[in-house]
Amino acid sequence: MAKKKAEGYLSAKESRRISKQNRKITNELEKKRKRKNVPESEYLTTMHDPNNSVEFDNLHTYFFTDSGTVKSVDGVTFEVPIGKTVGVVGESGCGKSVTSLSLMQLLQRPQGQIVEGEIRLNLGDKAYDVAKMPYEKLQDLRGNFVSMIFQEPMTALNPVFRIGDQLEEVLELHNKDMSKEKMKARTIELLEMVGIANSEGVYKMFPHELSGGMRQRVVIAMALACRPKVIIADEPTTALDVTIQAQVLDLLRNLKDKINSSIMFITHDLGVIAEMADYVVVMYAGRIVEKGTAEEIFDNPAHPYTIGLMASKPVVGKQVDHLYSIPGKVPNPINMPNYCYFKDRCEMCVGRCDGAYPEEVSISPTHKVSCYRYYADAEKGGNA
Ligand SMILES: Nc1ncnc2c1ncn2[C@@H]1O[C@H](COP(=O)(O)OP(=O)(O)OP(=O)(O)O)[C@@H](O)[C@H]1O
Ligand SMILES: [Mg+2]
Repeated sequence: MAKKKAEGYLSAKESRRISKQNRKITNELEKKRKRKNVPESEYLTTMHDPNNSVEFDNLHTYFFTDSGTVKSVDGVTFEVPIGKTVGVVGESGCGKSVTSLSLMQLLQRPQGQIVEGEIRLNLGDKAYDVAKMPYEKLQDLRGNFVSMIFQEPMTALNPVFRIGDQLEEVLELHNKDMSKEKMKARTIELLEMVGIANSEGVYKMFPHELSGGMRQRVVIAMALACRPKVIIADEPTTALDVTIQAQVLDLLRNLKDKINSSIMFITHDLGVIAEMADYVVVMYAGRIVEKGTAEEIFDNPAHPYTIGLMASKPVVGKQVDHLYSIPGKVPNPINMPNYCYFKDRCEMCVGRCDGAYPEEVSISPTHKVSCYRYYADAEKGGNA
C-alpha cells in the first residue's frame, strides 16, 4: 500500500529537477562574479545621503538549496548613518546574519547569492555597490572600512596561533611596510585598549588559555585594529554572562566614539538594543516590518510583531505569572504566503489583512511600518 507522502518532503525526481534548475541559475551568477578586471564604473555608485556610511537598498539574498529557494533576505532597505549605531532585531532565522554577510561578501557561495538590490558603502570620496563589487576588491576594504565581530570568539580565533601573531597578521595585511617592533607595540596597545590588563602576557598566549570574556575582547581588538568605518557586531555578547556583557558593550560604545565609526548591531536581546542603538530595524521572515529611532520603537512600537517582542521582555519590578510569548511559528522560508507574513500569528488583524503583503507606511519621518492597521482604510477587506 502506498504511504501518503508527508507534507514538506520532496520526491527524488523533484529534488533532481530543483538541483538542475539551481545549478543553471547559480552558474550564470557565478560566471558574472568571476570575471577578471571588472571596470570600476560597474560598481561605482553614489550615496543617496552622504551622511550615511552604508545604505541597504531593496536587498534580496537567496540560497538556492536542493529543497527549494530560501529567500533569506527579501527586499531589505535601511541605512546606517555615520557615527551611529543601528540595532537589527528579530527572531532566529529572520535573516539578520545573512544581511550582514551580504555586506561582507561572506555568503556561502555558490548557493548563497545576492540576486537583486544595492548595498552602497561610503568610502568618503566615492561610494561602491558591494552587491556588484568583485570579491578581491572588497577584500582590500575588509578590516579598514568594514569589519565584523563574530558571535563565537573560539571559532573566530585560530586555536594553534598565539594571540599576538593573530593580531599582527591583521595589521600586516593593511600596513605592509610597518616594522616588526612597531607592529608589536600597536598590538600591545590594542590589547590594552580593549581592557586587557596583562597585555604582554596575553600577547604570548593561545586562545584556549583565555576566558570567554577575554577572547571576545581579543576578537573586538582584531575587528577594530585598522579603525574600520563600519563595524558589524553579530550577537557579540550572546556567549558571555551579563556582567562581562555590560563591560564589552561599554567598551564597544567607547571605541566606536573614539574612531567615529558606525555600528550595525545584531541581536535578539531587546535590552542590549535599548542600551546601544540610536536606530532600530525590526526584521521578520526576511523583511523589515518596522524601523525608526530607538525612542520611537521602544515608546511607541507599531507593528504587532514588535509589540509582541516588547511584551515578551521581562520588566524589573513587574510581577507576572508567566511571560508573554508570540503564538505560532515563522512561515516556511521556501514557501512564503502571498499575504502579510505575520498574519497567521497576529492577534490584531484588521479587514484588509487578507490583501497582498502590506507596503511601508510612515508614522513619522523616521518611523515606518509595514502593517495594514496604519492604512487609512484599514477595516476594508480584500485587495481593494
Ligand atoms: N548557507 C545557507 N544555506 C541555506 N540556507 C541558509 C544558509 N544560511 C542561512 N540560511 C537560511 O537563511 C535564513 C536566515 O538566516 P540567518 O542566519 O540570517 O538568521 P538570523 O536572523 O541571523 O538568526 P539567528 O538569530 O539565529 O542568528 C534562515 O532561514 C536560514 O535557514
Ligand atoms: Mg545570526
